[in-house]
Amino acid sequence: PASGHVTIVEVAPRDGLQNESRLVDTEDKIRLVDLLSDCGYERIEVTSFVSPRWVPQMADAPAVMAGIARRPGTRYAALTPNMRGFEAARAVHVDEVAIFASASESFSEKNINCSIAESIERFRPVAEAARNHHIPLRGYVSCVVECPYEGAIAPAAAARVARLLADLGCYEISLGDTIGRGTPEAVDAMLSAVLDEIVATKLAGHFHDTSGRALENIAVALERGLRAFDASAGGLGGCPYAPGAAGNVDTLAVNAFLKARGFSTGLDAEKLARAARFARSLRSAA
Ligand code: HMG
Ligand code: MG
Repeated sequence: PASGHVTIVEVAPRDGLQNESRLVDTEDKIRLVDLLSDCGYERIEVTSFVSPRWVPQMADAPAVMAGIARRPGTRYAALTPNMRGFEAARAVHVDEVAIFASASESFSEKNINCSIAESIERFRPVAEAARNHHIPLRGYVSCVVECPYEGAIAPAAAARVARLLADLGCYEISLGDTIGRGTPEAVDAMLSAVLDEIVATKLAGHFHDTSGRALENIAVALERGLRAFDASAGGLGGCPYAPGAAGNVDTLAVNAFLKARGFSTGLDAEKLARAARFARSLRSAA
């Protein structure tokens, strides 16, 4: 069996809750993060400092960050698309910030209202400020295999944007199958192109599970040497600008899948099950 450590980055409080149709109470968000903190994560993505007009669900980002109990050893991260978001995140002592680009021009326009090239220019001052303040910077590439507006995305397009984010100083690039339509074959071809640019240890997989193939895609990525995966307690998630996208792959499933293959994750499965139950209770009634 394989061995070694795999990092699971928990994204339910951000990717999960941003997509709920009803507004979740700030206290419930704090409780979710606190339950997750108990599980032993290295990193939890807590919220986004984005425009409340674009994503009303994340409007309470400062209150959530200020309200959580921080476990030593866990890094609490947030999305920061521009300097305004970065400064707001810094004011409440976010441990890690993330910028988010797309391999698809249409998704970039829909999600952050600018082209890919413009987004890189907007991220440049954020990256510089993160470096100056010694705040770790993560980068996301959305639509690495499929776009809800353009269909299939060329592996070279994903590799190009990943390279641009790495050049901005991102210590890790999370590769997003935003709408969960990636097949293992497409994911493998995408990874092959990205790995020509960036080493596997600087990459993470971010698989939405719309088609139920996220675990197969993780298996392909593990084979390619990736050792970090984003997952969501209770399988919560989606993106308001990616119609039809289901949640991220369920953390409990990823944890069990990795354990069965001989990897360690450092997570407590029982506590995780408790956090996942609470996460699911926050879901809007279908
Ligand atoms: P814009 O309209 O081009 O920017 O939006 P703007 O600078 O003209 O600002 C518009 C309004 O937002 C203004 O307010 C600003 O003050 C305000 P108004 O005058 O209209 O009242 N504003 C802000 N407010 C709070 N915090 C800020 C901020 N910035 C501006 N930081 C912008 C550009 C990027 C701001 C907007 O498009 C936006 O917020 N987009 C966020 C979209 C988003 O959060 N999507 C979900 C996360 S990405 C995702 O889920 C994918 C991922 O999971 C990976 C995967 O699955 O692929 C990461
Ligand atoms: Mg996502």
